[in-house]
Amino acid sequence: LKEPYVLTKADVVERYLPSLLTASSEPVTCFAPSNIALCKYWGKREKELNLPVNSSLSISLGHLGTQTTLSLAEVDQVWLNGERLTDDTPFARKVIAFIDLFRRDQAVTLKVDTRNNIPTAAGLASSASGFAALSLAINQFFALDLSDDVLSAFARMGSGSASRSLFQGFVEWEMGQQEDGMDSFARPLVARWDTLRIGLVKVATGEKKVDSRSGMTRTLETASLYQAWPAQAARDISRLHSAISDKDFQLLGETAEHNALSMHATMIASWPPLVYWQPDSLAAMQKVWQLREQGIPIYFTMDAGPNLKLLFEAEYEADVLTAFGEIEVVSPFSAVP
Ligand code: DP6
Repeated sequence: LKEPYVLTKADVVERYLPSLLTASSEPVTCFAPSNIALCKYWGKREKELNLPVNSSLSISLGHLGTQTTLSLAEVDQVWLNGERLTDDTPFARKVIAFIDLFRRDQAVTLKVDTRNNIPTAAGLASSASGFAALSLAINQFFALDLSDDVLSAFARMGSGSASRSLFQGFVEWEMGQQEDGMDSFARPLVARWDTLRIGLVKVATGEKKVDSRSGMTRTLETASLYQAWPAQAARDISRLHSAISDKDFQLLGETAEHNALSMHATMIASWPPLVYWQPDSLAAMQKVWQLREQGIPIYFTMDAGPNLKLLFEAEYEADVLTAFGEIEVVSPFSAVP
């Protein structure tokens, strides 16, 4: 039996981009924020184009994120936070592979200068903001003039969560259903929530043993609990929409925390087990639950790592800082005009 033909990323780019690009003679710099999913993206229905099993909804982190500068250079070179990476670094390879998609056979060699202003102590992943900033920079550098929808779909091919990092505020990534994935992109929601705060609790930094990409594959292949995930994600997205439009903080927090723990349940139910938590992660969760018992409305979410992201409203910031010490607190809407 012949495998069904799967469109490649290159096929998709071919359909949507002009074949001849004009490179800018001047350097181009673009910024994209980090984002934290309130309803997580966990699982791919198609790996080549990076198409998700479920839609997801996130909040962007304002001024925290990645700034990327593209400029012409003698040879390709990738820089991260002021240091040149060797060509075989996984990050450098991913970046060059992504640029190759766009420039195809053209002899344009580039310097990619990536700077994250996310405090390393916050333990936040930077692939979302990294690929979003790179997509924005490519769009401008080659004067592609792509629409936000198309650009988000391209960023998604670099890293799923990058599709959401093109925008500030609340952002929803619709899973889509087209074979070429071009209806699988993110859009910002119009809603604001100025009093919303996000606290970044660092439990551990450093490379994780199993990245999201392989974690998802393992979960889909081995965790029978995963079967329940798509329906829960759909339900959580609609709850989040209600919470956001009614400014119902309790519903927002409960939905986000329950969603994150449900995702972690599918990870733990994988084989070999994927337990991203460390003892201090659980200690921080217990602190959140204690604060709630004391009447402080605070919730958490977690990604494929040991760190917690706290959700609370501005009036409780002092209580949260007393309980958690000097953590970074983000005001996500202060950067939204
Ligand atoms: C747990 O976007 O990093 O943070 O598409 O394989 O690059 P790839 O995965 P990535 O996965 C993020 C997973 C998550 C949840 C989320 O951000 O929605």
